[in-house]
Amino acid sequence: MNILAINGSRRKKGNTDALIRSVLTPALAAGAQTETVFLGDYAIDACTGCEACCKSWDCVIKDGFSELIEKVDAADGVILASPTYWYSVTSDMKRFVDRCYSLIQFPVCRHQWIGKYMRTGKACITIAVCEQSEVAAMGNTLSLLTDFSRDIGLEVVGSVTGLGFFEAGSVQADSAVLDNAESVGKELLEHMQKG
Ligand SMILES: Cc1cc2nc3c(=O)[nH]c(=O)nc-3n(C[C@H](O)[C@H](O)[C@H](O)COP(=O)(O)O)c2cc1C
Repeated sequence: MNILAINGSRRKKGNTDALIRSVLTPALAAGAQTETVFLGDYAIDACTGCEACCKSWDCVIKDGFSELIEKVDAADGVILASPTYWYSVTSDMKRFVDRCYSLIQFPVCRHQWIGKYMRTGKACITIAVCEQSEVAAMGNTLSLLTDFSRDIGLEVVGSVTGLGFFEAGSVQADSAVLDNAESVGKELLEHMQKG
């Protein structure tokens, strides 16, 4: 089993990272291979809307995105995680999501699409964390990650929300939130073990 976690935060010891670690704990204990990547470490340019990917599952812009997609292709499970920046995901995560336009095709009409990972059984967990304690402050952070993951064909088996965390790593003092993240990680592991 091979799990790839994609972190949209540039804080390497931040709250998103801590939640990813908790989600990964059960899989690591079961001997799975895991890798966490920070989108900020990859040069990923903005989607230009050229539509050249329409029939190719491939993006014409050759940069860090291609390397990252090779990792997603090879993974059995994917974690997509971002802090809230102004009611949404970070700009690093949004650029990555936009470039994943090359992972859907519209074979019949523009109202129906197929995602590259449909029927591959690739499981996914989405994670969002923010400073304020009301869900509304998170805006569309979690729904964007979850809806997008489903569109490209990932099977979203659970989500984690961290509300009320500002300082980098402050979520580590909240055992209830970490325990919940770990139990979502167990669901991911069980789903992957079922194959
Ligand atoms: C540019 C910026 C915008 C932010 N916007 C929001 C926001 O709209 N709502 C909120 O609750 N927190 C917001 N935050 C706070 C972060 O979501 C919070 O500190 C989070 O824990 C950061 O996660 P990290 O440690 O993984 O980077 C913002 C932080 C930054 C730097």
